[in-house]
Amino acid sequence: MEVIKLYNNKLVLIDQTKLPNDMSKIECKTYKQVADAIVNMKVRGAPAIGIAAAYGILLAALEYKDKGLEEFIANLFQAASYLKATRPTAVNLSWAVDRLMELVDQNRNCPVEKIIRMIQDETENIVKENKDTDISIAQHGAKLLKEKENILTHCNAGALATAAYGTAIGVIRYAFEQGKDIKVFVDETRPLLQGARLTAWELVQYGIPATLITDNMAGYFMSKGLVTSIIVGADRIASNGDTANKIGTYSLAVLAKEHSIPFYIAAPFSSFDFSIETGDEIIIEERKSQEVTQVENCIIAPEGISVANPAFDVTPNRLITALITEHGPIYPPFDKNLEKFKLINKNR
Ligand code: MRU
Repeated sequence: MEVIKLYNNKLVLIDQTKLPNDMSKIECKTYKQVADAIVNMKVRGAPAIGIAAAYGILLAALEYKDKGLEEFIANLFQAASYLKATRPTAVNLSWAVDRLMELVDQNRNCPVEKIIRMIQDETENIVKENKDTDISIAQHGAKLLKEKENILTHCNAGALATAAYGTAIGVIRYAFEQGKDIKVFVDETRPLLQGARLTAWELVQYGIPATLITDNMAGYFMSKGLVTSIIVGADRIASNGDTANKIGTYSLAVLAKEHSIPFYIAAPFSSFDFSIETGDEIIIEERKSQEVTQVENCIIAPEGISVANPAFDVTPNRLITALITEHGPIYPPFDKNLEKFKLINKNR
């Protein structure tokens, strides 16, 4: 599945707002079109928006290639700020853009063509690393699973969200491909239904037995002893392990604690933000009210009702059993056990 692909200097994306009914693609010729696709969630999921934004910088470089060097660099920095402002919670976005812009900054006296080549090479490095990372996460995570598991997942942390093998869904896929007896409960994930529309669709493609439930059914199935593990992705993980992920993740973690169910976060190091100590510092994206008052184009709430629509919540570290990363599972105490990874991340 080609979720994100550069083709003839255009970024071709699966339009995830149309799934599962329609597998149509959109083409972005400019970085502003990429930004628009991110804001409107045609491309979504923390690693995937990081990759889309990296390509956005490449498109900006191609758009401004005929300007003089100084103007070219200034325009690139403007494009970087524009792309970074699209969605505030998933740190992979700024991680990818900053990685490219540091390279631009270090080489700001080179010819424009050389800078463009560097951006292209580094973007390809990000894409390749992301693929390798997903596989490592999947292999490490699958080892934590027993021969028979009923796994609950929330939102979509699959191939669509990473443009590779997936993180939480990658772990599930890998264990299933190893022959483990894996069944999945998929939370529908209101308001935008990433579970029902995207995760359920992916699991059907992979032939993994899955049952779709509404978000408010999760506790019921846990209380009946029908959930043996929970695995979700992450949008930003603080130095102490506090994790922002799709709204509703925190409630699942509380329920998991009550029912002694292991609660795993599967995420690459590009989702860690070591510049913040705790989850209190994570900015939570607030999205438009229509996402709550409408399903597709159908209005389901009265006009005039006040609406809240935070897109993410933060699960405190004390509720997390392990963070499954490309370097293996990390267990509590997270602040101490994450310490050595701060350096690896810095030197990458
Ligand atoms: O708003 P979305 O659909 O971008 O939210 C996605 C999630 O919350 C995912 O769980 C997270 O980005 C991890 S994707 C590997």
